[in-house]
Amino acid sequence: MTIDLAALPHDFLWGTATSAYQIEGAVAEDGRAPSIWDTFSHTPGRIAGDDHGDVACDHYHRWREDIGLMRRLGTNAYRFSVAWPRIVPGGDGQVNAKGLAFYDQLTDALLEAGITPSVTLYHWDLPQALQDRGGWPERATAEHFAAYTAVVAEKLGDRVTHWATLNEPLCSAWIGHLEGTMAPGWTDLTAAVRASYHLLLGHGLAMAAIRSAAPGAQVGIVNNLSTIHAASDREADRDAARRMDGHTNRWWLDPVHGRGFPADMRELYGVDLPERPGDLELIGAGLDWTGLNYYFPQTVADDPAAPAPYVRTVQREGVPRTGMDWEIDASGIEDLLLRLTEEYGARSIYVTENGSSFPDVVRPDGTVDDPERAEYLAAHIAACASAARRGAPLAGYFAWSLLDNFEWAYGYDKRFGLVHVDYRTQVRTIKGSGRRYAGIIGEHERMRGRRAA
Ligand code: FCB
Repeated sequence: MTIDLAALPHDFLWGTATSAYQIEGAVAEDGRAPSIWDTFSHTPGRIAGDDHGDVACDHYHRWREDIGLMRRLGTNAYRFSVAWPRIVPGGDGQVNAKGLAFYDQLTDALLEAGITPSVTLYHWDLPQALQDRGGWPERATAEHFAAYTAVVAEKLGDRVTHWATLNEPLCSAWIGHLEGTMAPGWTDLTAAVRASYHLLLGHGLAMAAIRSAAPGAQVGIVNNLSTIHAASDREADRDAARRMDGHTNRWWLDPVHGRGFPADMRELYGVDLPERPGDLELIGAGLDWTGLNYYFPQTVADDPAAPAPYVRTVQREGVPRTGMDWEIDASGIEDLLLRLTEEYGARSIYVTENGSSFPDVVRPDGTVDDPERAEYLAAHIAACASAARRGAPLAGYFAWSLLDNFEWAYGYDKRFGLVHVDYRTQVRTIKGSGRRYAGIIGEHERMRGRRAA
């Protein structure tokens, strides 16, 4: 596979990504309070194998070793999330200095290692105390999110320039409140739509908070987007594809690009938005960069019996799949990068997550070879480079994930890491895919060197 690395800018960020609850563990340490994911994962039957994040990768204690792994991969950037329940354990009010200290030392150590930190403020771990007061369907949650964000930006803003407000608000709203397979586990369309609104309001308020606490900060939002195909040429299926595109892509992209919420989807949901004057301006205040998480395309058919947006996903025949049963189609990432560029006028884009899960086999000597994951990685980076060649302002790529980790409702069974984690011993082993990534990064570096010489 050839990758057109020359299409990528000299200062391209090559990173890995993680999130707090998926790797940190130490859930009751140094003043952290429970989040909705502690509650959800400790509810029997919610998570495969009844797994939970109590220990996870024990990153809270092993972060120095994990930075060492990033160096061995040759990455120059790292995307992590800050756990709100460590910083403001009650959701609002009292700030926990020990929580801040953790991310403060992590930031310093990353910078010392030559790794640019990219901080995400919310990767789904809402303090349980705020859930008890209604959670994201309530406007106050967005306001508390902005207050917590200001605390973090004031602490780290002298060193951190890359900020993301939310990770995949689609999952918080639609999967958490409509499908119910993620925390808080509701199945209520009205609550889901209200949550989606307040998440984006939280984004707008948080963006303003970061900009005032850390002038010069580059602020963005991270959305998981999909290319959507109709299952057939029937008009009903083509309509279904349009609805799914609205639900998955436009509902999240239009408002943050100053276009408001798509009228067709407002009508389809039939839920009054809890709008107040000035909200849309805050939400659409303008991004410094757009974050794209891409995993798979989706093919949908009309299904009036399904919940909104009344579609059923269909598997295309003959398309290879990952261990999650997700279709592998690298053309999707290229299409989405070009869509963000052409349709939304994105000024700067980061692929903030992309990766694959396959069952890993650990050899007797402890090594892990994972050619399918390595292939997925290379094919998607090649598609990114091709999008850059065609004009997408792509500034960085973050592989999901640095480590195998707690994969939400799937527990520890699904492994996405470039580094294998033995959860019994916490031994970390760089997989073949990690070596492949290091090779690609090294080649880009040599190319840059040659160009500079
Ligand atoms: C994304 C999440 C991330 C991880 C990957 C596989 O939706 O942002 O935390 O679970 O999927």
